[in-house]
Amino acid sequence: MAQYSLAKKTESSDIVVDPAFRDDILAGFTAMPKTTPARWFYDQRGSELFEDITRLPEYYPTRIETQLLETHCAQVGQIIGKGRAVVEFGAGSAAKTPHLLRQIDPAAYVPIDISGDFLRESSAVLARDFPGLPVRPVEADFLCPVQLPKELANIPRLGFFPGSTIGNFDAPAAVDLLRSLHWSLGEGAMLLIGIDRIKDASVLVPAYDDTAGVTAQFNLNLLARINRELDGTIPLDAFRHLAVWNDDRARIEMHLEAVRDVTFAIDSNRYSMRAGETIHTENSYKYGLRDARLLLRAGGWNPVNEWTDAGDMFSLFLAEAQPEKLAV
Ligand code: TRP
Repeated sequence: MAQYSLAKKTESSDIVVDPAFRDDILAGFTAMPKTTPARWFYDQRGSELFEDITRLPEYYPTRIETQLLETHCAQVGQIIGKGRAVVEFGAGSAAKTPHLLRQIDPAAYVPIDISGDFLRESSAVLARDFPGLPVRPVEADFLCPVQLPKELANIPRLGFFPGSTIGNFDAPAAVDLLRSLHWSLGEGAMLLIGIDRIKDASVLVPAYDDTAGVTAQFNLNLLARINRELDGTIPLDAFRHLAVWNDDRARIEMHLEAVRDVTFAIDSNRYSMRAGETIHTENSYKYGLRDARLLLRAGGWNPVNEWTDAGDMFSLFLAEAQPEKLAV
């Protein structure tokens, strides 16, 4: 801890803090129960830890979705045709992207991510591996409609939204997000999206609470980020990672639970928590077969095709943008 506050002092002068981060965290810690938006997990360290999660034996979604992409992207290419601009939302390390790009002969690749450093690194790797493919990273929050590079104005789009990220939003927010993707991609766009399925809690819970403790570190990193960027004094050892399956809502919930009574400050505001009280840091909604199709339609996308693994663990959907309704 002593070491930590030392690091904080030397770093704090050159830290650029997103004002939306401060607003979200202060509002979230004042709410009852405490809750924080999941997008703030992804600072540099959080993005790295998340990559580690995707390689965990318990975390099946990455493995299965990658297999689905390897197996079916040739068919995706046949359906969508050549020469689309692939626009990836929340690209992160873009680890799954080569499987898609290799099979569909795209006109350009536009990765969008909120974490700029990470985005630039992964874009450089992709540009190297796909010489001749224009790579145009956009640093943006894809929750808001994103203006794509002007040079791509007349090229048809394929949105790529893997990783079951849509599952991190409740139904109204997921519908808003799908509509916003529609707006960003424009008329005639298609969307390739991964959606995680409902399955037994004995498989779901370990995927979010691994034995190596990486997901715990990922969750706790949010508190470290608050301490560093918002002048926080949260004792990290007073919290533990918790993953629970909420069957009624069909979602995995991640919490940070206070293991003892604790008081701390964030940006000179004081907070106290009782032992057992939690900060709700993330949801990961899971979808039954028809649920996923309903969600896509509600968000302005008509499902065209669906590919699933033999165990029905994960689904990859190809959907097309519903034409804009004419006002009558
Ligand atoms: N959207 C994915 C999921 O819910 C990945 C993810 C986001 C995740 N945040 C996470 C996985 C935290 C583990 C822990 O599965």
